[in-house]
Amino acid sequence: MSAPARVLELANASVLVFPDRVSACQVAAERVAHALRSAVATRGRAVLGLATGSTPEPIYAHLVALHREGTLSFANVSTYNLDEYYPISPLDPNSYRAYMHRHLFRAVDLPANQAHVLDGTVPASAAAEHAAQFDRWIAADGGLDFQLLGLGRNGHIGFNEPSELAAEAAMRLPTRLVDLHPVTLADAAKDFGDESRVISRALTVGVAPILAARSILVVAFGPNKAEAVAQSLRGPITAQVPGSLLQSASGKVTWILDEAAAGDI
Ligand code: F6R
Repeated sequence: MSAPARVLELANASVLVFPDRVSACQVAAERVAHALRSAVATRGRAVLGLATGSTPEPIYAHLVALHREGTLSFANVSTYNLDEYYPISPLDPNSYRAYMHRHLFRAVDLPANQAHVLDGTVPASAAAEHAAQFDRWIAADGGLDFQLLGLGRNGHIGFNEPSELAAEAAMRLPTRLVDLHPVTLADAAKDFGDESRVISRALTVGVAPILAARSILVVAFGPNKAEAVAQSLRGPITAQVPGSLLQSASGKVTWILDEAAAGDI
């Protein structure tokens, strides 16, 4: 397995800095696989919180490779994805359901009824109840053994966007329907072809269920993440930088970065 170039043990997190994304994603995938195997070994099943976006694509490719080698099974796994655009059809290639199908679900032995993605087709009047039901299902599944996170350029985790809430209130946020932040809309323009076509709302798993995960891995690459990474790790705990709320989950958060993303720490 690749070794990180640097390991930083901060007060609230372990940070592994890699020279390149390829080795970083290989180690991130090994961590996901390890969490899955340990949970299955100790309690017969694993519950994983999963992220989408460009950062985890190679991580999923590694997990698929481990599955094809015969060393990783998803048969006893439940997955809960962090977010989904709203409204969106699961058939839309920009839906996160379609993303998960492309990058993981179609290539592994995860039973279809154990792969949970927030439903971008529920009527608006039922969205709050659907989100609350998602949280109840995670809880009924025994809570998340492991949460994989990316980090937005604006510091968002899932689609928990920067806000003026008190940090304590932000940490209690449940799964819910949200408006996307201008930076998130600008960054999604590449997927939708044009910023005016980006879907401006989303369902997101809340900060509270993310923080309740038994282990959290945040992966961020590139110079445009450096400021959000540094503010999340070293700045005050504030809802204006949702990644900083992870400092309150001290002892169970690991960050995997490349040198560019670690540049401002
Ligand atoms: C995606 C998600 C987002 C992304 C973040 C980084 O499910 O929850 O928080 O992780 O926007 O996206 P990328 O990896 O595309 O830079």
